[in-house]
Amino acid sequence: MDTKKNILITGGAGFIGSHVVRLLVNKYPEYHIYNLDALTYAGNLYNITDIEGKDNYTFLQRDICDLDLMRQTIKDCDISHIIHLAAESHVDRSISNPLVFLNTNILGTANLLQAAKEYWDTTSRQDHLFYQVSTDEVYGALEMDNTMFTEDTAYDPRSPYSASKASADHLVRAWYHTFKLPVVVSNCSNNYGSHQFPEKLIPLFIHNIKNNLALPVYGKGENVRDWLYVEDHARAIDTILHRGKIGETYNIGGHNEWTNIDLIHLLCDLMDQKLDRKPGQSRSLISFVTDRAGHDLRYAIDASKMQRELDWLPSLQFEQGIELTIDWYLNNETWLQNIMDGSYRNYSPTVQKDLSI
Ligand code: NAD
Ligand code: DAU
Repeated sequence: MDTKKNILITGGAGFIGSHVVRLLVNKYPEYHIYNLDALTYAGNLYNITDIEGKDNYTFLQRDICDLDLMRQTIKDCDISHIIHLAAESHVDRSISNPLVFLNTNILGTANLLQAAKEYWDTTSRQDHLFYQVSTDEVYGALEMDNTMFTEDTAYDPRSPYSASKASADHLVRAWYHTFKLPVVVSNCSNNYGSHQFPEKLIPLFIHNIKNNLALPVYGKGENVRDWLYVEDHARAIDTILHRGKIGETYNIGGHNEWTNIDLIHLLCDLMDQKLDRKPGQSRSLISFVTDRAGHDLRYAIDASKMQRELDWLPSLQFEQGIELTIDWYLNNETWLQNIMDGSYRNYSPTVQKDLSI
């Protein structure tokens, strides 16, 4: 069997993608990692400066919505495996501007599936894989009880974001059943950690607490999310890439449910300690605002299949992970500042790769 893999990771300049790219580039010098990213507002090359220039890494600024370019990329780079993370990922933006979500998340995924199918039909290699990185939001919302999403939970997406991810997952399974494209899908809960765009709850609130800005809590802050450290998600993706079964779905989560308000209180209290503030000072920044439209009440993932079949478990306790996360944002002010003033979009790599391959 051919063990050299040419892996196309889409969305590798984003939050989770940058952790996956870093892990695979460092762990598998024998593979070549192609990081394909359009560098939308969420793409940030400062997320991956540490691997720039490595021999087994190439960055490609390209858009998954361009079918011919995807065909050309997969063929020219002789891609054997695809880990597909590129997406519009923020629920609030999907409410204010839904159509871009349908374009990128649905049509972009269809383009990649079709381009992979066309190229892989022409090669004799047996171990191809199209890995769709998806979200627990496709399952809809849970009540405040002990239920959890399993791999058999019916899809019931509620936001334009989750509906677009659900559509993409359906397309992936359609290419599997109809064309025998080797696919795998994973659905993960809320990630937290370094390099997350500061529109999402945790990095936004760390930034606002630090700068004494209001903390806009949607509704009463009663919604529940199941938080997983992003490096544990990246490890899960590595595990599924190598040991996942074709055609299967894997749920990934932290067994770590928090109401938003409890999580925000924790952030405020930890930040008070780290910033030498009076106990309770940061909590005074909390401001309850109009709820998100269609706000899903609760997510919780049953990740027992990952443990049972692939021996994966989160490695980090939340108490450790959240401290590491706060410390990272406090110690990397320039990273945050570059986003706030927009200069991250002018990043120019110190090592210029030949982008035309
Ligand atoms: P992100 O918004 O931080 O990054 C998305 C990346 O995709 C960016 O680098 C962006 O430039 C790129 N991109 C967007 N449109 C593109 C296009 N048309 N062509 C090429 N690249 C494009 O997102 P994230 O939070 O890192 O999420 C990554 C993936 O994981 C998404 O598919 C998301 O649905 C999924 N997911 C996220 C979470 C989470 O908690 N963040 C949880 C489960 C699953
Ligand atoms: O569950 C996985 C999903 O988690 C991913 O698929 C999405 O890409 C990712 O963005 C995330 O979605 P959420 O909507 O859960 O994440 P967000 O950080 O936007 O919000 C977390 C919770 O906090 C949610 O209940 C809304 C609330 N919230 C969020 C913001 C930004 C607030 O109360 N105030 C805020 O300002």
